[in-house]
Amino acid sequence: MSASVASNTICTTSITSSSIDAGKLRTLFPIFSHAADVIYFDNASTTQKPTTVLQAMEKFYNTSCANAGRASYQWSTLASQQIEETRDALAKFINANSENIIFTAGATDSLNTIALAWGLENLQDGDEIMLCPEDHKSAILPWYNVQRILAKQGKNIAIKTFKIHTVGDYDLKTIKEAVSNKTKLLAMSHIHHVYGLDMEVPEIRKIVGDQVIISLDACQSIGHCQIDVKHLNVNFISFSAHKMFGPNGIGALWINPKLTKEIIPFKLGGKANANIDFSAEGSHQLSFDQNNLPSLLEAGTLNIPAIIGWKPAIELIESLGVANIQNHTGYLLKLLYLALKALPGIDFAPGPGVCGCPDGSSIIAFRFEHIPTMDLAFMLDSENIYVRSGDHCMGIAKASEGDAYIRVSLHAYNTEAEVKHFIEVLTQALT
Ligand SMILES: Cc1ncc(COP(=O)(O)O)c(C=O)c1O
Repeated sequence: MSASVASNTICTTSITSSSIDAGKLRTLFPIFSHAADVIYFDNASTTQKPTTVLQAMEKFYNTSCANAGRASYQWSTLASQQIEETRDALAKFINANSENIIFTAGATDSLNTIALAWGLENLQDGDEIMLCPEDHKSAILPWYNVQRILAKQGKNIAIKTFKIHTVGDYDLKTIKEAVSNKTKLLAMSHIHHVYGLDMEVPEIRKIVGDQVIISLDACQSIGHCQIDVKHLNVNFISFSAHKMFGPNGIGALWINPKLTKEIIPFKLGGKANANIDFSAEGSHQLSFDQNNLPSLLEAGTLNIPAIIGWKPAIELIESLGVANIQNHTGYLLKLLYLALKALPGIDFAPGPGVCGCPDGSSIIAFRFEHIPTMDLAFMLDSENIYVRSGDHCMGIAKASEGDAYIRVSLHAYNTEAEVKHFIEVLTQALT
């Protein structure tokens, strides 16, 4: 077991009951009354949406549909005000300042924004980036893209990789080996999207030192564990609304205030994030106001209804309490783990199944020796049990479809009855 799992926060408590009434919570989500027989266990991929989110979006279209920040009439100023209300709610949620929160099209867009708005401008010939090939492609491919673009300018950027430990968090030894005085940025997950463990930011910060920029992919931690930018000691944080009961097509990027002077927009357009001096005949100068975050990185019309719909999602998570959500999913995961462990031929992926400490986590992945994973996934689908199979968007393909892992990922509205039924169906399939 790595040093980080030994001190992993998700392993330190022993959860014996849940503090969330999942049955009551489900009544707030219309999909569960329309599809009462579906067991939805793919929450790491996307979550279902409560009525409040759907109504907020519909209300915008039905009663005050207008562009924001471009006109002085009432609908437009209302849209601008609502955008800032969601930004403020997000800022409070992660203990940040509103001006450091950029709206993006989702986590993939946020992660590409870091690479293009910071990486392209600040990386120099010989600099090094560190990343883990078993992280999500959205967190690692943007750096290979930057490497490709900078190579055309004669700047060679080395990408050094570090590994996953057999238990499922990062292998700290490989981080120690890869870091050097040329390392400029390390990309990492907060909670791994297949292995489900807290990947231990503090340990990694200690190893790489304060001068290395850490880009944290918080897709799987947002809404599942408390994110406090004042304590995390990272430089960028990316996440999507749709994984926290919010709408699709919207996400956020938090930029540490210390870095704002290093940011140059890569997407230029409407809403004053850049200017051209047309008075200088023949040499029109492009300039940016770097004190103008978040507008600097929000060129063009934002996804206004989705931003408006995100606020009630944040409010729902706040009303449930992130610690209670973590406790609830951790409790269910523990039940799941103990039942799965008893099944013949089970082979757990790294993570809670291997380290045996499922408390507080919401993701577990596994496969069986004698049943191809895809066959099992199709069988579960025929029983209306929705789980994730396939390559899990990992940077490096670890297995083919047949022997890849099934991933079960839980959220606050999943119930003990669903876990029990899932185990019954699985048991039948194996016998
Ligand atoms: C860890 C992680 N990073 C990035 C992403 C990409 O998120 P999105 O598809 O919302 O851009 C996902 C989505 O599954 C993810 O799990």
